[in-house]
Amino acid sequence: MTTPPAGAVDYSTKIPNNINLADDARVLKALEQWHPGYIDWWMTMGPEGFQTSDVYLRTAISIDPKGWAKFDYVKMPEYRWGILLAPQEENRLVNFGASKGEKAWQDVPGEHRAALRRLVVIQGDTEPASVEQQRHLGATAPSLYDMRNLFQVNVEEGRHLWAMVYLLHKYFGKDGREEAEGLLQRRSGDADKPRMLGAFNEATPDWLSFFMFTFFTDRDGKMQLESLAQSGFDPMSRTCRFMLTEEAHHMFVGETGVSRTIERTCEAMKAAGIEDPFDIAKVRALGVIDLPTIQKKANLHYSLSLDLFGSEISTNAANFYNGGLKGRFMETKIDDDHVLTNATYPVLKLVDGQIKTVDEPALTAINMRLRDDYSKDCQGGVNRWNKVIEKAGIKFELKLPPVAFHRHIGEFKDVKVSPDGKLLSETEWIKNRDKWLPSKDDGDFIASLMQACWERGKYAGWLAAPKVGIDNKGGDFEYVKIHRA
Ligand SMILES: [Fe+2]
Ligand SMILES: [Fe+2]
Repeated sequence: MTTPPAGAVDYSTKIPNNINLADDARVLKALEQWHPGYIDWWMTMGPEGFQTSDVYLRTAISIDPKGWAKFDYVKMPEYRWGILLAPQEENRLVNFGASKGEKAWQDVPGEHRAALRRLVVIQGDTEPASVEQQRHLGATAPSLYDMRNLFQVNVEEGRHLWAMVYLLHKYFGKDGREEAEGLLQRRSGDADKPRMLGAFNEATPDWLSFFMFTFFTDRDGKMQLESLAQSGFDPMSRTCRFMLTEEAHHMFVGETGVSRTIERTCEAMKAAGIEDPFDIAKVRALGVIDLPTIQKKANLHYSLSLDLFGSEISTNAANFYNGGLKGRFMETKIDDDHVLTNATYPVLKLVDGQIKTVDEPALTAINMRLRDDYSKDCQGGVNRWNKVIEKAGIKFELKLPPVAFHRHIGEFKDVKVSPDGKLLSETEWIKNRDKWLPSKDDGDFIASLMQACWERGKYAGWLAAPKVGIDNKGGDFEYVKIHRA
């Protein structure tokens, strides 16, 4: 027998893992008992109509950053969802908050038990939610390549649920088990048992929404995982660090998806000699999505995703930080005392009917800071999209709306603000809303383009082919062998 490489995943147990689950009978049993309910959820709420198709998926086989995944055809219900943690770092410390300098905790400190459980459950709840939101999209996939990427994202969100459920079973006893059950009970958009966060109860009606969602909302996920990866509770940190490896692909799907949509629109406009990007009727007649509508979709998904960061000023966030449970983005790279008791942070607030920057205690402004880091990260992608438009010689620039635009949580939830930052009356807002957010008409138009395109190497007319395929395969590779259930 050859010895498996360091960090290799053990596939001999029902639940693949790299944490010696075989030696942890209690947790293994708990997870094996949770497994049928998960499969049941996957079969009823996972990708609709494609459960018997063979999908060219990557599966984690190791946590070695140089070669952690292998690609092969898998039927999604047979995907090996496993528990994978980044390796334990020797002598890792709590790097921030009141316990800074202590050895990182290998178990849950009693006083932080409720707060940690809450963090795990909130993160865990988003993972199955997005699978539920995206379950109808296979039917209108614009290519086999895109269909495969959708399903890859879906199985990995499923794995992220496993990652959080492992923490619940391993560290939170009876209430952990109950929470793990609850994660299979709630449903995105359900009136009685909705998912916990707003953006995860919105519909994802079309593929442009899917690309926007993976760009904007999965990126919120990335920021949350980045700050949980800083946690003094070491198993949380290790779990989130490995999840981030997978999350990078979700960002890629979103950014390139929107970019390819833009590219195709610009290409069609040029071929037809249309110079005015606002001549929407003419652009739409070409069977591509006009740039102003793409801007509206970005406005919607960006604003919904900003809500996921919570209130700008939050004592919960301060307690999570002070407790050493959830840090800042790139915590250990920041040059300050990592305790923040005397620090301030500039926060955008509504003061006497005006949007102003006010210095607030940095501890209570932790959410605001993470949201700022998120906005910067989003802006990078928007800049790359604008390069595509510029290269095509079209005069149009995509912009992120101000953070006060279309908000439902925090400082700006009760005011109406335009994309150029003006405070508006309710009447002005209602009059202009359809100029700034996707209207029924926009939705109908996009829906009319969502025709399945499942021929090898073919792409729907509204979307450019990718520059490169997955796993060094070409754009014409048979990424999904479709067997309809
Ligand atoms: Fe995820
Ligand atoms: Fe994701």
